[in-house]
Amino acid sequence: MKQILIILTLLNALYADYKELLFNGNCITCHRTDELNKSAPTIIEIRKRYIEVFPKKEEFVKHLSQWVYRPNEEKSIMQKAIQEYKLMPELGYDIDTLEQIAEFIYEKEFM
Ligand code: HEC
Repeated sequence: MKQILIILTLLNALYADYKELLFNGNCITCHRTDELNKSAPTIIEIRKRYIEVFPKKEEFVKHLSQWVYRPNEEKSIMQKAIQEYKLMPELGYDIDTLEQIAEFIYEKEFM
């Protein structure tokens, strides 16, 4: 029993790292955590705004992933960001990957 728990804990940690890698590989070039050379809102601003509108994890993940899947000006909850930076380009990732990235963003306290 103990071994099973250890294995589950390890798998969970690996899965968390995997989601972080997906985010770092695909989003952070535009959504940085600092204010330098901004071409898009920071991930901190995005997370704050999405949590304000969708405080529950399930809703947060659903709305964020679907929006990134098909960026759409009318459905945006960050209209000022579109005026400032133009609409985010469509990246062509599948929805499962985007849901995993959205979970990571919800769970992570960015500094
Ligand atoms: C090529 C640059 C670029 C990349 C790569 C990028 N974004 Fe964006 N993103 C933007 C810009 C610019 C905006 C601001 C304008 C807007 O909201 O459309 C934005 C806005 C957003 C928003 C706010 C949506 C709203 O309601 O307006 C979310 C959420 C988001 N990005 C998530 C992501 C995620 C997750 C990834 C990685 C899978 C990602 N972005 C990758 C440029 C990028």
